[in-house]
Amino acid sequence: MAEPPGDRILVTGALGQIGTELVSALRNKYGKDTVLATDIREPSEESYFPDGPFCNLSVLDGEALEKIVLDEGIGTVFHLAAILSAAGEKNPDLCHRVNVGGTVSVLEAARDFGLKVFAPSSIAVFGPDSPNIASQKTPLNPTTIYGKTKVTGEVLGMNYFKQYGVDIRGLRFPGLISWRAPAGGGTTDYAVDIFHAAVKDGHYDCFVSEDTRLPMMYIDDAIRATECLMEVDGSRLGPSRAGYNVRGISFTAGELADKISERIPEFTCDFNPDFRQEVADSWPDDIDDGPAKKDWGWQAEFDLDRMVDEMIDNLRKNQSS
Ligand code: NAD
Ligand code: SER
Repeated sequence: MAEPPGDRILVTGALGQIGTELVSALRNKYGKDTVLATDIREPSEESYFPDGPFCNLSVLDGEALEKIVLDEGIGTVFHLAAILSAAGEKNPDLCHRVNVGGTVSVLEAARDFGLKVFAPSSIAVFGPDSPNIASQKTPLNPTTIYGKTKVTGEVLGMNYFKQYGVDIRGLRFPGLISWRAPAGGGTTDYAVDIFHAAVKDGHYDCFVSEDTRLPMMYIDDAIRATECLMEVDGSRLGPSRAGYNVRGISFTAGELADKISERIPEFTCDFNPDFRQEVADSWPDDIDDGPAKKDWGWQAEFDLDRMVDEMIDNLRKNQSS
């Protein structure tokens, strides 16, 4: 393996739901100038983004990516650029190009320059044939284009690890719940949008049915899982290194609405499923994360009540500031 050109960190898709939080956490830990945030779009004036270096980069432009890696002295890439499940069902060609093509660009740069890579996978790798609680070894037969690209991402990552020694690491994130940045076109977006609507309008029209149960996770747990996985000695990682199941919480849309009503009594919620119901129905209720626990000691900290408290408190503080 080549020696990396430096030890700075590059984040792709940095303006998204995870990037907004991860860039902030990485800058707090390693210093503002160590972390170069990139995205295909520009940071907007209205939305929060942590102060520090930023440049435009499409992950489909492999040459531009390699130039940045060299010029900026990059040693690690957190590859977050992607098209999520609901947006992917509407534009499958773009979803395939960005999710598979972008991952290939990053893995090629990692092979050429000896980079360490974090590339998240998703619960979307599972399909309708998976058991209600999907284990790490559940067969992967997703029906969505997004899920298929995530399976391909895991396979590509393992190929580059085995053939070229690329230090690839990844997590099968559940639906992530956060308050700083909006959710970016996924099926689990309702579990984020419901909080914004509850605090702002007192009402939410939910696009999945009341009894839809999915695996979810609060963003602080997701960032901690990412940091843990990237910091652990590589010798502890097993065959799931490109896509460890990580469990957080599991609840139905109705249970979430009830928890919000306990804290905001005037809150009302209607359930009017749209095309995203079929996507949600194709995913498991929950996942088992035995290998992540065993290999690198993963344990989520946020349960449903704590997550709901954090979301409402933070959104209220944000609204009044
Ligand atoms: P997001 O949609 O919020 O952000 C993705 C970012 O990628 C956006 O800022 C977008 O502008 C950017 N982007 C799109 N095309 C690009 C391109 N060609 N080049 C560069 N940037 C481009 O997504 P997210 O929620 O932050 O997800 C990040 C990663 O985590 C993705 O791989 C996603 O599949 C995975 N993931 C997310 C969740 C979740 O609930 N948020 C769950 C499981 C997995
Ligand atoms: N939250 C993501 C989505 O719904 C899952 O990867 O697309």
